[in-house]
Amino acid sequence: MSDGTPKLRLHDVSKHFVAPRTGARTVAVANVTLDIHSGEFVCVVGPSGCGKSTVLNLLAGLDTPSTGRLEKDGRPITGPGPDRGVMFQDYALMPWQSVVDNVGFGLHHGSPGRGLSPQQREERVRHFVDLVGLTGSEKKYPHQLSGGMRQRVALARLLANGPDVLLMDEPLGALDAQTRLILQSELLRIWGETAPASERKTAVFITHDIEEAVFLADRVVVMSTHPGRIREVFTVDLPRPRDESVRGDLRFGHLVEAIWRLIRDEAFRAIGGSAQAPATTS
Ligand SMILES: Nc1ncnc2c1ncn2[C@@H]1O[C@H](COP(=O)(O)OP(=O)(O)OP(=O)(O)O)[C@@H](O)[C@H]1O
Ligand SMILES: [Mg+2]
Repeated sequence: MSDGTPKLRLHDVSKHFVAPRTGARTVAVANVTLDIHSGEFVCVVGPSGCGKSTVLNLLAGLDTPSTGRLEKDGRPITGPGPDRGVMFQDYALMPWQSVVDNVGFGLHHGSPGRGLSPQQREERVRHFVDLVGLTGSEKKYPHQLSGGMRQRVALARLLANGPDVLLMDEPLGALDAQTRLILQSELLRIWGETAPASERKTAVFITHDIEEAVFLADRVVVMSTHPGRIREVFTVDLPRPRDESVRGDLRFGHLVEAIWRLIRDEAFRAIGGSAQAPATTS
């Protein structure tokens, strides 16, 4: 939207869960307020259990807040919709369907394909299979693909549905380091890094990897636990398009260090380490 309305708005959002048997209450996130603008790439980092997935699920409309408001384009988010594509760590592909059938699933069985002829659907599927670099593997099944290829399929499927918002929960978390670096760059290209800012999609991307967050994001939201809340928001003032050389930029290193300093004690506690994390040596 061009009138200044944020693409996504979380206003004083809290979410608690109540265990059905014991009645025990967990405050997953508390008083989260954040505006995300059209075309922004926002990464969310923070220790395990700080409520990152909870926030993403609320934005996806897969869950409802206990209190507070969530909006897209100024309208309340009341449930899931094809305007918001969701991608998780674990591929979530249908193992009995080929690459093209996985990518085209929403087009053939859901509202995104409404009004399209079978040929237009096919063309759309082919376009996105090509965009994620899977041309030649259209007829393969998920078990015949590497982890990186499977996540490419998941990404193509998400894009084929035509969302303007991409919601991604550790989508590269299960991949080996090299594939991960390649897909980070691919993701920026697909998001629209080389296109004018007005043509970019809006992306919310959760990761545990601080370098990944700084490499991808316009802003990095750092969350903390007990209860999950926003601790700080960092603006990543690094030029786009970004390539591997950006990782050597002094500002890149400073941002990674500042974010790590903010979350390291909590991260150590979350994995059962000492309450005080060792200081970094740099
Ligand atoms: N459906 C649920 N029922 C009960 N508690 C839940 C539920 N979902 C999340 N929680 C709790 O809410 C808190 C936040 O969980 P969430 O999954 O959002 O954290 P996270 O930051 O995504 O963690 P991770 O980095 O490990 O994925 C945790 O204490 C978790 O146990
Ligand atoms: Mg999570």
